[in-house]
Amino acid sequence: MSRPDRFVGKSVIVTGAGQGLGRVYAEGIAAEGGSVVVADINDVAGKETVARIVEAGGRAMFVHTDISSRAGTEELARQTAAEFGGIDILLNNAAMYDGMAMAPFTELDETDWDRMFAVNVRGTWNCCKAVVPYMRERGTGTIVNIASTTALIGPPLLLHYTATKGAIVALTRALANELGEEGIRVTGCSPGVTYTQATNNILGDPVLGDIFVEMQAVKKKLQPEDVAPLVLFLCSDEAGMIVGQNYVVDGGWMKP
Ligand SMILES: NC(=O)c1ccc[n+]([C@@H]2O[C@H](COP(=O)([O-])OP(=O)(O)OC[C@H]3O[C@@H](n4cnc5c(N)ncnc54)[C@H](O)[C@@H]3O)[C@@H](O)[C@H]2O)c1
Repeated sequence: MSRPDRFVGKSVIVTGAGQGLGRVYAEGIAAEGGSVVVADINDVAGKETVARIVEAGGRAMFVHTDISSRAGTEELARQTAAEFGGIDILLNNAAMYDGMAMAPFTELDETDWDRMFAVNVRGTWNCCKAVVPYMRERGTGTIVNIASTTALIGPPLLLHYTATKGAIVALTRALANELGEEGIRVTGCSPGVTYTQATNNILGDPVLGDIFVEMQAVKKKLQPEDVAPLVLFLCSDEAGMIVGQNYVVDGGWMKP
């Protein structure tokens, strides 16, 4: 069912919307009337997302952002509020994912480990800190954090990434409890292995991809369009009483 009006009048920041899942979320929110800020470290990709949204009749702007920088995220929030009159929704999607190393935990590089935490965990914290003052002004707001099924399953060879996503699950629950009384709702989503370009780059060998599909109950490669409906629902007012949870969409990779 098409719901063309869920984000009308809403000012929405989507981090990491330059490509992959973030782009699909941003385009979906704009198609339902939201004014979208594409926040990405990659200017070319981010501006391309904006162009696609505008061409489709939507409203969007690009703000170059490195979420690991506190000043950068404060500037993102300032520009969003100045252009769109406030901030209603923050979708924390950006992460170090594309090109990450897969290796036994003893062989992971310390610099990679620190950067992974600086972007995925501190970056999410930075974005929340930067937008919450604007949400407090209005006494309302929604924050959706993207974790990963890896945090719940613990596949080998990705300890740095998996640990950051576990932190996102915990951060989501704790922040929901800190902000709930103020009318700011925090919740999260954990996609399974989703076939973005980044996933293809990481898995490289298509046979490896098939192994992940074989582990799912439903033997089909998960696509961004399979994940987006849940994420958009969590961003919307329809999910108004869903708080602090981490919802999995993974084709049945994780067994209850
Ligand atoms: N694709 C999957 O299988 C999968 C599974 C579970 C969770 N996820 C999560 O979903 C999100 C998107 O995944 P994807 O496959 O689209 O990844 P992707 O690598 O294609 O996209 C990530 C985006 O974030 C941006 N980015 C990276 N570092 C940044 C920074 N410091 N500041 C601002 N932007 C930055 C990148 O430029 C890129 O546009 C990530 O949080 C990822 O961890 C992905």
